Amino acid sequence: MSSTPASSPVLNVIDHPLVDHKITLLRNVDTGPGDFRALCQEVTLLTAYEALRDLPTERVEVETPITTTEASQLAGHAPVVVGILRAGLIMVEAILTLIPNARVGHLGLFRDPETHQPVEYYKKFPDDIAQREVILVDPMLATGGSTVAAIDAVKAAGADNIRFLAIIGCPEGVAAVQAAHPDVPITVAALDEKLNDHAYIVPGLGDAGDRIYGTK
Ligand code: PRP
Ligand code: URA
Repeated sequence: MSSTPASSPVLNVIDHPLVDHKITLLRNVDTGPGDFRALCQEVTLLTAYEALRDLPTERVEVETPITTTEASQLAGHAPVVVGILRAGLIMVEAILTLIPNARVGHLGLFRDPETHQPVEYYKKFPDDIAQREVILVDPMLATGGSTVAAIDAVKAAGADNIRFLAIIGCPEGVAAVQAAHPDVPITVAALDEKLNDHAYIVPGLGDAGDRIYGTK
């Protein structure tokens, strides 16, 4: 039996040559902001394809040019994509190309450079977030502090059906999220080795926000 109990932490690491190739380009220090942004979006699309595999569907009747048939469509309320600012915005845009009708929530967090603890500076969620599936996105899962704080915030707003997607994670961040929120499945495009003394992921890709927006 390989079924996972509903309360178990779930970690899904994408294993695909296209994803690996694009992540190698993201890691490269010579990749500039334009290519970096495009690659983040492409990796997000490929990661979301796996991470959203179990979205609920329903059968509907559709008339094709040839005949009438039964087919699947997404069921229920459209999900809410919550992006952790700044870097998460690039992933929100990618997911909206897959689910154009999704609602969007924003959570502004930055890591204090000394303590590495997340500091909240902005929050705006759809009023009915409690009735919707939440897809939380941030390219980097490092200490896990930002992701744990973001899940705390969406749960405080009433959401109870949450999944988290990142581009690069590491064991420390995964452990922190699984300890605080064992009900939230995590999907990462790559799982790296460790954190360094400055709480940056090794080998990682550096500071995702700075590389996306060219701020350093
Ligand atoms: C980065 C990243 C995550 C966070 C991850 O954001 O986008 O939000 O760090 O680190 P953690 O797992 O240790 O919390 P940052 O705070 O640099 O803000 P930015 O997106 O505005 O650059
Ligand atoms: N935030 C980033 O953008 N990169 C890291 O490696 C860690 C936190």
